[in-house]
Amino acid sequence: MTRYEAIFRRKSVRKYRWEELDPRLLDAVEHFGGDETCICPDIAVRWKIFRYSDRNMKGPFQVKAPYYVALYSEVKENYLVNAGCLMEQLSLYLHTKGIGSCYQGGASLRRSEETELVPVMIMAFGRPAEPLERNREDFRRLELKKLVKIHGTFGKIQRKLLEAARLAPSAINLQPWRFVVTENRIHIFASKPAHIGYQFRKTMNLFGAGIVLSHMLITAEELWFDVEYQKLDSILEKDFQNYFYVGSLLILDESEKV
Ligand SMILES: Cc1cc2nc3c(=O)[nH]c(=O)nc-3n(C[C@H](O)[C@H](O)[C@H](O)COP(=O)(O)O)c2cc1C
Repeated sequence: MTRYEAIFRRKSVRKYRWEELDPRLLDAVEHFGGDETCICPDIAVRWKIFRYSDRNMKGPFQVKAPYYVALYSEVKENYLVNAGCLMEQLSLYLHTKGIGSCYQGGASLRRSEETELVPVMIMAFGRPAEPLERNREDFRRLELKKLVKIHGTFGKIQRKLLEAARLAPSAINLQPWRFVVTENRIHIFASKPAHIGYQFRKTMNLFGAGIVLSHMLITAEELWFDVEYQKLDSILEKDFQNYFYVGSLLILDESEKV
């Protein structure tokens, strides 16, 4: 199975078998990122695995799992989007190896050995003790027409990208993003959080926008068309209903290959 196929089958796994994983796989997790599609390769990141028995997590909505991986990042412009984009690729990679995972957005670390980088997200993982997959029709997601505003024509490439984006997981499945589609661009917007819990929700929404981007970048790679992530100054100040601008995907290949 490819990571692209995993987009259409994955689900959060919350029940795990208490089995050891192959040390080579754990090593691949801790060194993940070298070959991945990354939107900001200049941002330093680090993965650190810990065990349930380390008792290194606090906070609500925790899932009990044999392994967790924390993603640390340098704090720079777009670091949250970049982190979401990378971690979702790790989640899909694990899926292709028969390993389930679940984001732990409510949790934080009790102890951190890092001094230069900040912990951004924790993800539980391990061999699943429940189905790893589901059918495409079992995804509970908003319809595309509720997520997308279209200006001009809407080609097959855009549809492929947006279908994969639509299935992206989000904190409590809120799907806090919208898309404005023009002839050769998809602009991504994330929901403006309410006043209460503003910083936490904004962090989740930006991280989530990175997850969405990863689904689109993997789709582009799989279907052999070129896209480029950009942040356009002309859109930065634009408000779109109650959403703020995250970035845009420029579709470089206009031919309808798909
Ligand atoms: C940023 C983020 C944070 C999340 N935090 C938690 C969490 O703390 N605990 C949990 O059980 N699930 C968490 N989830 C999983 C979501 O609840 C799940 O992705 C969503 O309900 C959609 O279900 P699915 O992943 O099975 O498609 C999180 C997901 C994301 C993307």
